[in-house]
Amino acid sequence: MSTDIDPGLFRETLGHYPTGVAVVTAIIDGRPVGMVVGTFSSVSMDPPLIAFYPMSGSRSFAQLRNATSFCVNVLASDQEALCRQFATAGERKFEGVAWRPAALGAPILDGAVSWIECTFEDVREAGDHFIVLGRVQDLAVERSTLPLLFFQGGYGRFTPGSFVATPDPELIQAAQVAEALRSRVERLSEDLSVNVSVLAKIRWDAVQVLAANQSPVEEPFPLGHRQPLIPPFGAIFMANSSKDDTDQWLRRGADKSEERRELNRGQLDSVREHGYSLLAAGVEVARRHQAALSEFELSDRLPRRERDVQQATSELANFFFTDLVAGERYDLANVVVLVPTESGLPSMALRMTGLPREATVDQIESWIHTLQVIASTAASPAGAC
Ligand SMILES: Cc1cc2nc3c(=O)[nH]c(=O)nc-3n(C[C@H](O)[C@H](O)[C@H](O)COP(=O)(O)O)c2cc1C
Repeated sequence: MSTDIDPGLFRETLGHYPTGVAVVTAIIDGRPVGMVVGTFSSVSMDPPLIAFYPMSGSRSFAQLRNATSFCVNVLASDQEALCRQFATAGERKFEGVAWRPAALGAPILDGAVSWIECTFEDVREAGDHFIVLGRVQDLAVERSTLPLLFFQGGYGRFTPGSFVATPDPELIQAAQVAEALRSRVERLSEDLSVNVSVLAKIRWDAVQVLAANQSPVEEPFPLGHRQPLIPPFGAIFMANSSKDDTDQWLRRGADKSEERRELNRGQLDSVREHGYSLLAAGVEVARRHQAALSEFELSDRLPRRERDVQQATSELANFFFTDLVAGERYDLANVVVLVPTESGLPSMALRMTGLPREATVDQIESWIHTLQVIASTAASPAGAC
């Protein structure tokens, strides 16, 4: 009996099955409409049939079902923002979205992996959903690239299960830039007895590509560690980012409230203005954050563990700052400055951790200055020693 099944258990169990993500589009009264579905699947080759399952309460489907045809657009792994836009109810789904009509008129979205235009073969009620059977009329692979995947409530992409490391050109470029800074980074680490690392933005992670750890305070993360860029963390990498990237970063936080977004945006503006950021998180908050990050890595980066990282990262929000008050002393967890890189290279940063406690403003300003001098040599590697 269906009443015996706990809805939480149902969601949890079925959430362990991954799906692709598609946007079903149509034209109604001359206007485009669309909705995100994870339930798209192939049904039959002869005749050619596909299916998807809209919720009975979906307002978009109530409109869509009156169309002559609909088009299933399979989203690419770089279209998460588009997916979020189409998954949000309202009139703004097509805002800023480029598309062209398929033969029967349904919208083909720019950048989709593939599209399948169909007529309605059958619409059946199935509990709180419909089962829609579509008869394929036309289809094509538009862009043979990795699709967007959805799993445990998080987005991701496919990685081949091979022992051969996948080449990551951005990571290699970043390692080369870091290598040019190596001797200065090592000297600074030794001179000040602090930990100094070079970080690079690789997709939505900050990856540690170089580390010199001469502080008596142990650096918790090894070389190669990846930390997801979730606000307020990673503002430094957003310093020269486009509006789209910045908006995407702001949306990655756990707290989606306007108030929190404004706080993160304000911190980003101030990091942009100063070119550095400071973190003064207490030991407990920092430990919770480190523990969540370690669990995330140990779990093969499961989306549910990523949510714990989101939560722990958002707790840091009140501890990021740029303005130093004369006469104050600070217990800083880190100082981060932007490494200027040529266009086409990943965004990079230089970070100092394992710092002495109760630092004076003069001391901190001199750390920032020293880091910025070293960072500036990255733009002209020939000048680095
Ligand atoms: C990854 C993902 C998969 C989804 N899959 C479905 C689905 O299969 N069926 C469905 O009705 N809604 C699904 N949704 C939700 C709808 O896209 C979205 O909430 C809805 O279109 C907005 O409400 P509206 O249809 O009333 O405009 C999914 C959302 C996401 C983010």
